[in-house]
Amino acid sequence: MLQRGAFILFEGIDRSGKTTQCNKLVECLQKSERKPEHWRFPDRSTELGKVINNFLSSKVELDDAAVHLVFAANRREKCKDMFNKLNSGISLVVDRYSYSGMAYTLAKDIPDMDQQWCMMPERGLPEPDLVLYMRVSPEVAASRGGYGEERYEKAEFQKKVAANFDMLKGKNWVEIDAGQPIQKIHDEVMKAVDDLYSSSRLSGPVGKLYT
Ligand code: TMP
Repeated sequence: MLQRGAFILFEGIDRSGKTTQCNKLVECLQKSERKPEHWRFPDRSTELGKVINNFLSSKVELDDAAVHLVFAANRREKCKDMFNKLNSGISLVVDRYSYSGMAYTLAKDIPDMDQQWCMMPERGLPEPDLVLYMRVSPEVAASRGGYGEERYEKAEFQKKVAANFDMLKGKNWVEIDAGQPIQKIHDEVMKAVDDLYSSSRLSGPVGKLYT
């Protein structure tokens, strides 16, 4: 029987090295039978993604509640495709997802927009089988190339985001020390991924978020 694909998610603050590690993981999985695809959110290629891109690069201003919903809608528009791919045996290596949505929106401390509010539009989306949380201090992240180009890349804000990720950590999360050399991080990532593929977690259906 065809084993379904794995949903492997990387989360972390800006410049925590997620994209580098996604690329390295996808490269490794390509050499195995795993048929990986590299996805990222926001997906800036769609119409909603273009709105998000303009917001992040400060070309447009949007209401905070509205922008949270646009980020969520940008995942919603990919929901069926994600389930189909996972059920057809393709593994998805995803750079950011709903937890970023919550960690960043909650960092804005907006009255009435609590965790429950943030979760609602994400309900029923595919649930990751493994969340690799790339933990790095906001100071180290800020010293990395390209930092400060986009809207949220400000030290004080990133500290709040980091605290929110700590608060959101749940089942299927593995914390990786992302301040280490790239290869060492990759080795830890591979260990967590190998553990996932050899566990029974992929024998059940794809989970649904917040249900
Ligand atoms: P990126 O640099 O990984 O493309 O992420 C874009 C920015 O958008 C990053 O600062 C995190 C933020 N973000 C949200 O605020 N909400 C979300 O739902 C996602 C996926 C990202």
